[in-house]
Amino acid sequence: MTLVASAPGRVNLIGEHTDYNRGLCLPLALPQRTTVTLTPRPDLLLRLTSAQEDEGWEGPVDERPRSWAAYVAGVVAVLRDDGLEVPGLDASVDSDVPLGAGLSSSAALECAVATGVAGLLGLDLEDPVVRRRLARACIRAETEYVGAPTGGMDQTVAMLGRPGHALLLDFDDDGVSPVGLPLEDAGLVLLVVDTRVRHTLTGGSYGDRRSECADAAAALGVASLREVSLADVDRLDDDILRRRARHIVTENARVRDSVVALEAGDWTALAALLDASHVSMRDDFDISCRELDLAVETARAAGALGARMTGGGFGGSAVGLVPNTTVDEVRRTVTAAFADAGLRLPAYLVAIPGGAARVDSVG
Ligand code: GLA
Repeated sequence: MTLVASAPGRVNLIGEHTDYNRGLCLPLALPQRTTVTLTPRPDLLLRLTSAQEDEGWEGPVDERPRSWAAYVAGVVAVLRDDGLEVPGLDASVDSDVPLGAGLSSSAALECAVATGVAGLLGLDLEDPVVRRRLARACIRAETEYVGAPTGGMDQTVAMLGRPGHALLLDFDDDGVSPVGLPLEDAGLVLLVVDTRVRHTLTGGSYGDRRSECADAAAALGVASLREVSLADVDRLDDDILRRRARHIVTENARVRDSVVALEAGDWTALAALLDASHVSMRDDFDISCRELDLAVETARAAGALGARMTGGGFGGSAVGLVPNTTVDEVRRTVTAAFADAGLRLPAYLVAIPGGAARVDSVG
């Protein structure tokens, strides 16, 4: 038996670094996907290859690879730990989700593997409870096995995303609410600018932000920054902790306001919130960089209604809300600005909200 499964990358419309603060975010699944072809083996070996990687990996299911293969082996290990009888597997991976661009290529890989395994074991992928269980397993694979201290936004939207919609995720009560994103009807495009500055989530700054948020919550005597108001934030003596907490509190409010704007079809209001989110990430949360600022500023000057960096930060991608008549002009202008600054030229993709992880074929 051979089963093919796939899962999408994602772009976050707004709500950054809020997931691990029990906060709100509004991501959408991309049309770009990672596909795995799985064949069960009679032994407990994994034999892994990827069209995007020079080196494959082979070893027993309980061994820990260090490379990209850790995302696959991690999901298998966590699902086995979760009580599923996952067999040995031959797995080959292919993907058109750009790697390291802040578009969750790793969550796409994890969720494709989890979905494929669920398909092999006959789990009901129509059942949202099953999908949430798989998302949780993928989050554990990333945090406990690969060791990237991320939240849960990426895996949740990869398992639960809906075509034509963003998902309002609430990490306080695990709420998932689809929010319509009728971009085409509005003559708008969500343009993703990949700065091609590669970020990494396993070391350094992402984890630093996470601990600063935990320190700010501890200093305010609460379990998470979800519980605090701006007046509370002002009580923090430490300037860095105050700015980090202010970003989280204002960003949660911007996510809420974005949902209201989308429900009212008020794209101008949404665009202003995207702009404000970027300023907050640049000045308060300190996760932008020269290339992201340049992409955002130039896109706006060339006709984007609003724009912000998206994802973990320190590189990766920006996202802009752009009238479809202006997309070419925005791309040209941003590329020219990067060339003038002597920077590596950016890549672009259009974020049409796509569907969740699925089994594509069984043969
Ligand atoms: C990365 C992490 C997510 C989230 C974002 C920032 O994508 O994987 O969990 O924290 O950064 O919003």
